[in-house]
Amino acid sequence: MTTTSALDCRYRPQHHYTADRSWLNDPNGLVYANGTYHLFYQHNPSGTVWGNMSWGHATSADLLHWDEQPVAIACDEQEAIFSGSAVLDKTNTSGFGTPDHPPLVAIYTSAYSPASPLSGRQAQSLAYSTDNGATWTKYAGNPVLDRASADFRDPKVFWYDSDAGGYWVMVAVEATDREIVLYKSADLKTWEYLSTFGPANATGGVWECPDLFELPVDGDAGNTKWVLVVNLSPGGIAGGSGGQYFLGSFDGVAFASETTVTEGLQQDDSRMAEYGWLDWGRDYYAAVSFTNAPGGRRLMIGWMNNWQYGAVTPTSGWRSAMSLVRDVRLATRDGRVVLTQAAVDPFGNGGAATYSEAGRTLADGTRWLPAEASGDVLRIDAELEPGDAGKVGLLLRAGGGEQTVLAYDAGTGVLSLDRTASGNTDFHETFASVESVAVPLEDGRLRLRVFLDRCSVEVFAQDGLATITDQIFPGEASTSLAVFAAGGCATLVSLDVVR
Ligand code: FRU
Repeated sequence: MTTTSALDCRYRPQHHYTADRSWLNDPNGLVYANGTYHLFYQHNPSGTVWGNMSWGHATSADLLHWDEQPVAIACDEQEAIFSGSAVLDKTNTSGFGTPDHPPLVAIYTSAYSPASPLSGRQAQSLAYSTDNGATWTKYAGNPVLDRASADFRDPKVFWYDSDAGGYWVMVAVEATDREIVLYKSADLKTWEYLSTFGPANATGGVWECPDLFELPVDGDAGNTKWVLVVNLSPGGIAGGSGGQYFLGSFDGVAFASETTVTEGLQQDDSRMAEYGWLDWGRDYYAAVSFTNAPGGRRLMIGWMNNWQYGAVTPTSGWRSAMSLVRDVRLATRDGRVVLTQAAVDPFGNGGAATYSEAGRTLADGTRWLPAEASGDVLRIDAELEPGDAGKVGLLLRAGGGEQTVLAYDAGTGVLSLDRTASGNTDFHETFASVESVAVPLEDGRLRLRVFLDRCSVEVFAQDGLATITDQIFPGEASTSLAVFAAGGCATLVSLDVVR
C-alpha cells in the first residue's frame, strides 16, 4: 500500500499530468486512435529520478483528464527504452496487425547497455500493440535502423502522402553533431536514408526530440509551411533545455529552411533571440506533437522541466509534470509567418469567471485583488494598456514576501517572468531566474492568458504569439493576485479570473 504525504499533495498539479508515484521526462508516442489520446512518456517505474528508462502510458478522451496505465514498454538488461513516437498503421504496412485491425506501432530508441552485443549504441526499434495500446510486443527483428552511432535517437515517424502513394518518414537526431537525419520506409521495418539538416541556429547543446509537420498559414489549406522542431539541451533561449523551430518546406526528401539565421556548429550567442522558439521559459522541453489527431489539429505537449535542475525539484513521491496540451498554428503577424499556440483549456473555453473587472485606471503602485481572485489553480485573462506607465503587470502567487512577477516594460517592449522571489528557489543554483521575450503591443494593448497550477505558470501573450513556461514552488499561503503599474498611469482594460 502506498501512503500520500502532505508534501506529495502540496505541489501535485491539478491540471497537469504527473506519474502517480515516480519520475517522468519526455512525452513519447503521442498518438490518437479509436477515440483515445495516448500519452507515452520517459518513465522510471521505480524511482523519482531518471533511470530504468521505460515507456509509461496514460490515456485520455479529452486531452484534459489522463488515466495512468501500466508501463507500456519496459527496459530490460540489454536496453533502455528512450524517446520516440507511435503511429496508427492504418493499412497494416508493417504486417503486425490485419487491415481490419490495424496495429499501433511504437518507434523508440534502444539505448543498449553493457550486457548487449550492441553496447554503447543507440538505434531505432519497434514495438507493436494489437489491443489498442493496452499491451506491447517488441519486434523480433530489432533494431530496425542502426547507424553504429552512440547518439542517434528520438525518432518521430509520420505518413507522407505523395503522388506515388506515400511512405513513412522518420525524423531523428545525431544529437552531438546537431544534425537532423531523415529516412523513409514502406513498412516501418526497412529504412532508406533521405537527407540531413543542420547544424543551424541554436547549437549550444545536444539536439534531441525532433518533429516535422505541415500546417496551413492563417488556416488556408492552399498555403502551407512545414515546421521542423528541434529541442536542445543545454542551449535553450532561457538557459538549459529549450525548443527551437524552423519554418520551410519539405519535398518528401529534404527539409529546406526559410528561417536559418546562423549555420554551423559554432554557437553565436548574440543571435539567440532571432531564432524561432517554442517557448521562452525554462520549463518546456522535448515538446513533440500527436500523430493522427482528429480535425487536422497539431497538438503538442512538452515536459515541464529542465535538465539543469530537473532531478532536484522539491517534490516528494513524484517528480516532473507535462505541460498543458497546446494547439499549434501558423499565422501571419506583422507580415511574418509565426507559430502561435493556445492551451487546451482545463477551465473550458469561456468558463465562468469568479472575478472580473474592466476599464479600470491603474495608478502608480500595486492593486491587490480581492479573495475571489486568489488561489493556486487559476486561469487569468488580462488585457492591459501600459499608457504612460513604464511598466505594467501582474503579481502571481504572492504572499508572505513571495511573488512571481509577470511584467511588461513599455519602453523596451519586453515581457518578463521573474521567479527569483517565487518561493523555494535554492534547491539548485540555476533555478532563480528571469525569463523574457520581446512582444509588440497591438493597438497599444497587451493580452495575457496565464495558467497557474500548484507548481507552474504558463503564460500565453498576444493570443499565443509568445509563451513563457516556468515551474515555481511557493509557500501554501502565497495565493494572492495583484495588478501593478509603475512610473505612470496604465489601464486594466479587462481582467477575468477563473478557478
Ligand atoms: C531528452 C532525452 C532524449 C532521450 C531521453 C532519455 O530529454 O535526453 O534525447 O531519448 O531524454 O530519457
